[in-house]
Amino acid sequence: TGDKGPVKIGFSQAMTTDDWRKQMNKSMQLEASLHDDVALTVLDARDDVEKQISDIESLIRNGTDIIIVSPIQSRPLTAVVEKSVKAGIPVIVIDRKIGNESYTAYIGADNIEVGRNAGRYIASVVPHHEGKIRIVEIKGLKGSSPAYERSLGFSQIVNRFEKLEIVAAIDGDWESGSVKAPLRDVLKQEKKIDYIFCHNDRMALSAWEVARENGIENSIKFIGVDGLNTENGGIQLVQEGVLQATIFYPTGGNEAIKLALRILKKDPVPKNHLLNTTVIDAVNADIMKNQLDKIDRQQASIEHQLQKLSEQEEKYATQANLIKILTFF
Ligand code: FRU
Repeated sequence: TGDKGPVKIGFSQAMTTDDWRKQMNKSMQLEASLHDDVALTVLDARDDVEKQISDIESLIRNGTDIIIVSPIQSRPLTAVVEKSVKAGIPVIVIDRKIGNESYTAYIGADNIEVGRNAGRYIASVVPHHEGKIRIVEIKGLKGSSPAYERSLGFSQIVNRFEKLEIVAAIDGDWESGSVKAPLRDVLKQEKKIDYIFCHNDRMALSAWEVARENGIENSIKFIGVDGLNTENGGIQLVQEGVLQATIFYPTGGNEAIKLALRILKKDPVPKNHLLNTTVIDAVNADIMKNQLDKIDRQQASIEHQLQKLSEQEEKYATQANLIKILTFF
């Protein structure tokens, strides 16, 4: 880098249809714009593994200094990450993992802990509950690491309690559309369900809608993951009583850019950067919302200031140009 112009950061995003990923992109872009020597390119794989592989290959070809990847699935993305690292371009893996440890650094919340948090939340009612607690688990996309890890952590806790029982599991794909038909089938067979744990809030809302079709939305408790502070995001769903709880899952967008710059400066960094996760329920949803609102306002104000700065720069450039022309005559 150095005299070759701006630092080129390439981000291969799995898709950008949902708010969680929109937020991740936004926080990366904001962090990148705070450094005037950083050019961030975001490529959207549109949930298509083949496209993601070719996106990363094009970043490798185009002289990118460092690549950030949120892999749709683990195994199919492993080879191209390895290829990049071997070619001397470091790779930060964010949120979802690849199939081995050949990446330069990983950043994201611990998804096993996310699953355990959901399990512990349900387990906390064990002493007050008569008989078995019957649970349905709705998982994320098979082959994507948070689905595997959330499920693993969840079952670690469930298995410790006699009373907790997973009566059905559904393989979703992270999107709400994947939930409805399979859950309707489960509801036909399982007469009594106490909890539905969904690997994200979008699927949890969809599960709640299916329960409502059957008029049983109030006898089942729903737990999701993400806890976004957006319209229909997890925090609002908790405040409205649709969700009993959501496990907060930060995107890590701005942290990833900071980490990329440290790696390029050859700072020694730990390989794995774990972000915090926590349970959000009726007890702390308002506080969380207040705090996240505050952060949103600060972000908006920074964006505003950056906008003003670039307007000033433009004005200055025009004036400097004018002076050049005038002095020429
Ligand atoms: C967004 C998302 C989140 C989930 C994460 C897992 O695309 O589905 O809802 O927490 O990906 O990687």
